[in-house]
Amino acid sequence: MKISQDTIDEIKSRVDIVDVVGEFLQLKKVGINYRAKSPFSNEKTPSFFIFPKNDNFKDFSSGKAGDAITFLMEYDGLNYVEAIRFLARKYGIEIQDEEQSPEQLQEQSERESLLILTNYAKDHYVNNLWEHEEGKRIGLNYFKERGFSEETIKKFELGYSLDQWDDLEKSALKAGYKKEFLEKTGLIVVKPASEEGGEEKSYDRFRGRVIFPIHNNTGKAIAFGARILTNDKKAPKYVNSPESDIYHKSKILYGIFQARRAIRSQDNCYLVEGYTDVISMHQCGVENVVASSGTSLTEEQIKSIGRLTENITVLFDGDEAGIKASMRGIDMILEQGLNVRALVFPDGDDPDSYAKKVGAFNFREYIKENSRDFLAFKTELFSKGAERDPIKKAETINNIVGSIAKIPDPVKRTVYIKETSVQLNIDEDVLIAELNKIILQRRRQKGQTRPEQLTEPMIELIEERESQKREEVDSLKLQERECIRLLICYGFNEIENKYRLHDHYLEELEGLEFTDGLHIEILETFKRNIEKGDVITADYFIKNGSDKVKKYVIDLISDQYEVSENWKRYSIFVPREIDVLDNSVYTNLLRFKFNRIKKLISNIKEDLKEETDMNKVEELLKIQMELDKAKLEFARPLGIVIS
Ligand code: GTP
Ligand code: MN
Repeated sequence: MKISQDTIDEIKSRVDIVDVVGEFLQLKKVGINYRAKSPFSNEKTPSFFIFPKNDNFKDFSSGKAGDAITFLMEYDGLNYVEAIRFLARKYGIEIQDEEQSPEQLQEQSERESLLILTNYAKDHYVNNLWEHEEGKRIGLNYFKERGFSEETIKKFELGYSLDQWDDLEKSALKAGYKKEFLEKTGLIVVKPASEEGGEEKSYDRFRGRVIFPIHNNTGKAIAFGARILTNDKKAPKYVNSPESDIYHKSKILYGIFQARRAIRSQDNCYLVEGYTDVISMHQCGVENVVASSGTSLTEEQIKSIGRLTENITVLFDGDEAGIKASMRGIDMILEQGLNVRALVFPDGDDPDSYAKKVGAFNFREYIKENSRDFLAFKTELFSKGAERDPIKKAETINNIVGSIAKIPDPVKRTVYIKETSVQLNIDEDVLIAELNKIILQRRRQKGQTRPEQLTEPMIELIEERESQKREEVDSLKLQERECIRLLICYGFNEIENKYRLHDHYLEELEGLEFTDGLHIEILETFKRNIEKGDVITADYFIKNGSDKVKKYVIDLISDQYEVSENWKRYSIFVPREIDVLDNSVYTNLLRFKFNRIKKLISNIKEDLKEETDMNKVEELLKIQMELDKAKLEFARPLGIVIS
C-alpha cells in the first residue's frame, strides 16, 4: 500500500488546516488564529489553537501538535495512509489504490485490523445487496419498497447479509482475515466446546437481514445494525454489533459522518431515534440529523454534537408517555449548555413515516414551522390538566424549574424564568424562589456553600442578574469604590473581633493595584498617613483633598448603605451596616478580587489574539488556566455560577 510522494506533496499543498479541523470542531477566530475546546481532554479553558500562518495546530492541554494529517490521526485514530486518503477524497485528488496482501494485514495493529475487517464486511454486505441474487431480491427490494433511492442506499452504504450460517465467516477467512478478529468485532458468534465433547461452533451474527453500517467521524464502518425483514414477533427487530475496541456505543451517534458538514453549515442538529429516520430525512434534503439509536443519550454523544453546533432540535415520535419518559435525557443536553428545541410529529408518526406520508417539501416545511423552544414545549406538556389541580401544578413547577436550574448560564436561566412565569401564569418571584431552592440544594449536596449563604438565596440570584448587566470594567471600579468607602468610613472599626479594618484592608490589597486614578490617589494618601500613625477618615479628604477628591468623597459617603428595592420586596430585615461590617468587608474583598481576575483574563485573551509565537501562547494559556481556576474559587463563595 504505497502512495507516491508526488501525490502526498500535492495533497499537502492543497490542504487548508482551518478547513479540515473546522469539519470536526467549532472554531472561534481570535485575531489571526483560531481557538477551540480541546477534543482530547475535558477542559474549561479552550486550549486548542490553529496557527494558519504556520499551517499547524497545537493542543496545549494534551501537548498534541502538528499539521492537518496529524490532526486526523489523533482525532479519529486514522493511520497516516488513511489520513492521506481522507484528504485526497476531500480535495478531489485521485490516488492509486493497491490491494493489501494478507502479509501486510498481519502487520497492522489490532485496532486497525478490526477496522479493516469491519470495512471488509461492510463491502461484503454492500456487494450482496447489489450483486447477489438473494440480496437483490430480498434486501434491495425491501429498501426500495421503503422508498429509499439508489443514491440514498449508496450514500449510507446499506447492505444485506445472506440467510446462511457462515457466509461472511467463510469469505472473510478465505480473504485472509483471522477468526480471532471476526469474533472480536462481533461479526461471528463463537460457542466454546462443551464438556460433553461437543466441538467449538461459530456462526455469523447477522443472517437474512438488511444491514445499516455505523460509521465513525471519518466515514469508516465500525459496527452494524441489522434489521429483520419479517414480522416475527419473537425475533428482535434489530441485531447490533457488540461493543469492541473500535465501537463504543456511548460515544457514537448514527449518521454523524454524513451529517457533520450540514450540522456546521446549518448551525443546528436534529436528533432522532432510528436509523431509518436519519436516512429518510437525508432523502428529504435535511442532512443535519443524527440518531441516538433507541438508547438514552450519553454525555459524550452530546459533546460530540456540541463540538459542531450549540443548537439541537429533538424530534419526538410516539405517545405522550414515551415523550415524557425521554425528558431526562434532554435535561442533560441543557446541562451541557446547548440550546434545545423540540418537535412532535402528528398521530404517532416518526420522521421516516411522516416523510413518506407528506413528501420532501412538506416535511421540510413541517419541521421548519413546528419546532419550538424545548422548555416551552415541556411546560405545555406537563401543565395540561394541572390548572385546577394544585398538587399537579406544584409538581409541574418543580419539574420545569428543575430543568431551568440545569442551564449553566444565569442569564439564560433568568430569561426562562420570565417566560415560564408568563406561560404558567405564576408570579416570577415564586419561580425564582423555587429555582434558588433547587440550585442551593444541589450546591449543598456538592458541599459548595457557606452556611450563611443559605439564608439569603433570593438576593443571590438578583445580584447575579444585576452584575450580568454591568460591564466587566465597571464592576471592577465599583468594587474599588466600595473598598475606598469602607476604608475611609470604617477604618477604625474592628472586624472579626480581632483586626482593625484598615490593617486588614491594607494587607489584603497588598500588591493589587487599583485601576482608577482617583482611587489610587485616595489609597496612596491613606497609606502615607498610616505611616505617620494617622488613620484618616472621610473628613480628612473633604478638608484637604483636591476638588475632584473632595467631590468624590462627598458622593461616596452620601451613597449611604443603599437599601435595595429587592430587600424590601422580600421583606427581609435590613440591619445597620455597622452591624454587618464583617460581611460587607468579606464580600467586597471577594468581589474585588473576582473582578480583578476577570480583568486579567480578558487582558490575556486580548494578547492571545495577536500572538504567533507558540511558546508565548503556551505561557499565556498556562496563566489563563490558573486564573480560570482562581476565578472559580472566588465565584463559589459569592454564589456566582460560571458556565
Ligand atoms: P423501522 O421500524 O424499520 O422504521 O425502524 P426504526 O429504525 O425506525 O426503528 P424504531 O423506531 O423501532 O427504533 C428506533 C431505533 O432503536 C432503531 O433504529 C434501533 O437503533 C433501535 N432498536 C429498535 N429495535 C431494536 C431491537 O430490537 N434491538 C436493538 N438492539 N435495537 C433496537
Ligand atoms: Mn421507523
